[in-house]
Amino acid sequence: MNQSQDYESAIEICPGANWVGRRVEGALLNCNPYLLTLERGDKTPLHVLIDPGSPQDFKLTATKLIQLIGDLKNLSIITLNHQDPDIILTAPTLVSRFAPNALLLMTENTWRLVAHTGIPREKVKFVEQFHGTLRFKGTNRELKLVPTPFCHFTGAFGIYDVTNRILFSGDLFGGVTLDSEMFPLYAEERNWQGIRMFHELYFPCNSALKYAIEQIERLAPPVEIIAPQHGSIIKGDMLKEFMNRMARLRVGADLLSDRMDKLTWDAWNTVANEILVQVEHILGPGNAIYRIADDEELMDMARFEGNRIIIEKLPKLFIEGMVLTLTEKEVLRVANQIKVSAILACEAHGLPAPSIDLSSETTGTSDEFYPLAPIIDE
Ligand SMILES: [Fe+2]
Ligand SMILES: [Fe+2]
Repeated sequence: MNQSQDYESAIEICPGANWVGRRVEGALLNCNPYLLTLERGDKTPLHVLIDPGSPQDFKLTATKLIQLIGDLKNLSIITLNHQDPDIILTAPTLVSRFAPNALLLMTENTWRLVAHTGIPREKVKFVEQFHGTLRFKGTNRELKLVPTPFCHFTGAFGIYDVTNRILFSGDLFGGVTLDSEMFPLYAEERNWQGIRMFHELYFPCNSALKYAIEQIERLAPPVEIIAPQHGSIIKGDMLKEFMNRMARLRVGADLLSDRMDKLTWDAWNTVANEILVQVEHILGPGNAIYRIADDEELMDMARFEGNRIIIEKLPKLFIEGMVLTLTEKEVLRVANQIKVSAILACEAHGLPAPSIDLSSETTGTSDEFYPLAPIIDE
C-alpha cells in the first residue's frame, strides 16, 4: 500500500483535472476516470468526465464527483475512449438518471457498439464532427482529439488538454498492477513491467503503437503528462522513456510466433546460452553478458538468471539481436565465427535459421588476435 497517497479522495493532477478513480488492493486492473473542469469566466464551468469507469467503482467515483461539482447533473460531457465494459457500463445510468444534461463523446465506430446499451442517439456527439479540436463557447480552452486507432480499438482516441499539456490516453499506456503493494499514482520505473504486460495482452501490433506515438509526438505544445485509464499517470523523466519503449514494443499478433511447445522454447534458450558461453570464451569472461544486459531492446525480450539467459518472448528475434550486439564491434573474422556458431546451433536443435548476414562488414577496425574457441565442432 502506498501510504503517502490518499486514494479515498479526488486527487488534483493539474489545474482543473482530477483523478476520481478507486484503487482496490490486490486487484490486477484498476480504472482511472478523470474529471476535467473548464472555467468560463462568469458562466458556469464545463465539467468533462473522461472514461467514467466500472460500476464496481461508481459509488466512490460519484462521491468524489459530487464533492468536486456539487451534483452529477452538472456534468456537461462524458467521453468514452472505446466500448469496453470497464469504460462504458456506467454511461447508460449516468445519462438516463444521474447526469441527464451530459452529452456523450465517442467515435462513430465506438457508437456502433455502444448503441446496444440502449443509450439514445441524441445523447451522443461524434468525435469526427469536430475535425480534431473541441472548442467551447466562453473559454479559450481547446481539447485536441487525437486518433489512436487500434490502441486498442479501431475507434479509440486520446484527449489532449492543450493548456495543461495533459493527454488522456484511454488504455494506451495503461498498466496492470503486478505488485502486491498498490502502485503509486505517478509511474515509476517498476510500473513498466505492468504496462508492457497489459499492452502485450490487449494491443494488436507494434505498428498501431508506433502510429499512436507519432500522433502524440506531433502535439504542440509537447505533452507533459499522460493519464491512462489504468495503472499510473506518467510524467517527468518517465514520459519520454516510456514513449520510446512503447514505440518499439512488440505486442499481440507480433507475438503469435511465441505460441510454441515447451520443447521448442527450451531449445531456443539452450541455443542462446550455448552462443553466450562460446562468445564469453572468445571475448573474455563477462564481456558478452555485459553487452547483452546493456542492450535495452534485448532486455525487453529476455532476462538473466545469474549468468544464464532466460528468453521471455520472440526467441528468434532475440537470437538475431543478440548476435548483432555481440558482433557489431568485432573484426570480420571474429564476427563471422560468432554468426556461424549461432546458425549451426539453431540447426543442431532443429530450429529455423536466424536471419544473420554473414557477408556484412563490421565496424571493428583492428584485426587483433582473439584466442579462438572451438566454435565449430570439426
Ligand atoms: Fe479497453
Ligand atoms: Fe480499459
